[in-house]
Amino acid sequence: MRLGIIGGSGIYEIDGLEDARWQKVDSPWGNPSDEVLTGRLGDCEMAFLPRHGRGHVHSPTTVPYRANIDALKRLGVTDILSVSACGSFREEMAPGDFVLVDQFIDRTFAREKSFFGTGCVAHVSVAHPICDRLRQAVGSASAGLGITVHDGGTYLAMEGPQFSSLAESKMYREVWGADVIGMTNMPEAKLAREAEICYASVAMITDYDSWHPDHGSVDISEIIATLKGNAEKARRLVAATARALAGAHPDCPNGCDRALEFAIMTAPDK
Ligand code: ADE
Repeated sequence: MRLGIIGGSGIYEIDGLEDARWQKVDSPWGNPSDEVLTGRLGDCEMAFLPRHGRGHVHSPTTVPYRANIDALKRLGVTDILSVSACGSFREEMAPGDFVLVDQFIDRTFAREKSFFGTGCVAHVSVAHPICDRLRQAVGSASAGLGITVHDGGTYLAMEGPQFSSLAESKMYREVWGADVIGMTNMPEAKLAREAEICYASVAMITDYDSWHPDHGSVDISEIIATLKGNAEKARRLVAATARALAGAHPDCPNGCDRALEFAIMTAPDK
């Protein structure tokens, strides 16, 4: 197996990565966000991809999601752990806590969302977009690391780059039942499924979005301070997950690695 990590700059500056090298990966879907840092953490083959590129050059809308997933697939990645910042809609999910997302509401609208469409059409199921086996492995690995981890939560993916209005924030929370909000996990999760790669997401809470009466609107300096604190915790979680997953990759019990076998597909026109 090879574990892919898509996340921010704090993540790939990780101790103990052996044979580390940045690799340029060509993809027919365009340039990935950046080169990919490959190496070995203990016995686990790793591939780190900075989602926004080193130097944060891509906004959530311009991240080349298809090229990123394709590049990881070409490197033999079998499992992707997404690490990203999010806002919280729940009092008990506080800034500094992590959430192991288990569902999504996709409200993005200005991104390419599929590898299929011209020539060959495929409809894969994303009823359960997260690989439960991978999510549970991350959950077990997080025990004893001193991180408050919430097991399960619905992530609302918004287009951005602006944050939500108060009315939107209240609707997502009260009417739609979302638990956290972010700008990057979609269409990443859908594309991982199309590429038959197991996908799990650690959403690191940086703020209470704008619904919270005691917190007002999203404060950027607060987000950056919390993000910095989260980076060290995220590196520990990634290392512990790599230790837990190292070795053979059994068939995914959820069928993530065979998603296209169950898809509705049309043959390309001759
Ligand atoms: N990322 C971090 N905080 C966020 C928020 N409140 N809304 C959307 N994306 C975020």
